[in-house]
Amino acid sequence: MAEHIESVMITTEQIKEAVSRIAKQVTEDYKGKDLVLLTVLKGSLPFAADLMREIDLPLTVDFVRLSSYGNLSYSSGKVTMRDGYFPPVEGKDVLVVEDIIDTGLTLSYLSEEMMNKGAASVKICTLLNKAARREKPVKVDYLGFEIENEFVIGYGLDYDERYRNLPYIGILKLDD
Ligand code: IMP
Ligand code: MG
Repeated sequence: MAEHIESVMITTEQIKEAVSRIAKQVTEDYKGKDLVLLTVLKGSLPFAADLMREIDLPLTVDFVRLSSYGNLSYSSGKVTMRDGYFPPVEGKDVLVVEDIIDTGLTLSYLSEEMMNKGAASVKICTLLNKAARREKPVKVDYLGFEIENEFVIGYGLDYDERYRNLPYIGILKLDD
């Protein structure tokens, strides 16, 4: 697959270091809490899987699928919960695990919905953040990497559903 990659932005080793750093912080911050790792499918799957195994606390995991009616590489703004499933978050300390925050529309919607459903607390953990692209404010509580405004793939992130299985994060090579 390397021929589809313009360049590697974040290596496997760098991802591992970020995951360990975040997991350590979460382990300190959530002692005695009722932690739920809420994974936003599909992109956050590898990040959540790696993160949960380094958090040294009792916790549960849950999943949501959201659609933001976008095209291949942009989101349109309107976010909805897919499959009619809403995780039971009442009284729980929810840590949302996200692959990337771009416009912020997805997570501002999700955080608000969870507070409405009675979560005790909602915090956000994202591997990547494109702060320059923000349209709706989102408070990032745990961050892997701040990145420039480039379209990235790998370690869960897709372009047209592909490349999620790359073990690093790269920039897609676009055809001329
Ligand atoms: P937001 O609502 O604009 O913050 O959208 C975030 C979602 O857009 C992410 O969960 C990804 O699914 C997708 N996305 C945004 N930027 C990228 C990118 O560079 N590569 C792959 N997916 C992206
Ligand atoms: Mg996503």
